[in-house]
Amino acid sequence: MKLSLPAIGLAALAAATPVTLDTRQQTTGNGPFGPAHYYTNGNLNGHTFFAPRNIPAGAKLPVMVWGNGACSADSLGQGNFLLQLASHGVLVIVSGTPRGGGSTNADMMRRAIDFISREAGRGQFAQVDASRIHAAGFSCGGTEAYQQINDQRVSSIGIWSSGLLGGYDQARSFRKPVFFFLGGPSDIAYGNGERDYNYMPGGTPKWKGNLNVGHGGTYHEYNGGKFGTIGARWVEWVMRGNTTAGQFLTGNGARADGWQVVSQDLQNLNINPI
Ligand SMILES: *[C@@H]1O[C@H](CO)[C@@H](O)[C@H](O)[C@H]1NC(C)=O
Repeated sequence: MKLSLPAIGLAALAAATPVTLDTRQQTTGNGPFGPAHYYTNGNLNGHTFFAPRNIPAGAKLPVMVWGNGACSADSLGQGNFLLQLASHGVLVIVSGTPRGGGSTNADMMRRAIDFISREAGRGQFAQVDASRIHAAGFSCGGTEAYQQINDQRVSSIGIWSSGLLGGYDQARSFRKPVFFFLGGPSDIAYGNGERDYNYMPGGTPKWKGNLNVGHGGTYHEYNGGKFGTIGARWVEWVMRGNTTAGQFLTGNGARADGWQVVSQDLQNLNINPI
């Protein structure tokens, strides 16, 4: 099944992304696998890899494919945030190139999944575990992630300041865990994300947090700000199976940071630690 997304809504989300390159201070992440860096690879044109530099022998990296805000092909748009996540032990493959122009689409994200499914376990990607691929994105990029939900290689979805822009009933048949990170009522995607969360069927694990910062989030702040803090714990929990990190999202950690959190059926989320 392909999700249908009217183009008019994408334009609205595109217009609401305010961060410019000049305001970004590049950081490298403060996680145990850090520092993180980014690079391109000629075997996967049009994409950027955000990876930790410090991967202990024997350690494995899950994978997150990421769509940028505004479906922009500039892979540095959420660079600070993505470096923070990578430093906590995940290989991130972003649609787009550093300071690249133009737009991305869901097909590019699928090509990243194809690539890493083929290359994991050898060469430069010897420590990558392609049985743990997660699709996520910010705003318009979140709608690209949704379009991977029926791909059997994808384990879960991360919706960051986003939600379905049409075909809302599709959320009623989501059978994979979805994590929503929204910017509160002033976030242009708030209504869509809220609706998707509410429409999801019982039995499917779901988690939703709202931080009242609006649509722009904190992606560009030092180490991705509060979105980077919770994103790091999400990586450790949902991608690496660390239930202690999960308690940040479900317990006092997120609340102390200002997140308003609800969740359902998380008991059905069982991830083996790696
Ligand atoms: C699990 O997550 C917690 C909280 O982030 C962290 O302190 C701890 O080191 C992690 N454990 C492992 C084995 O990665």
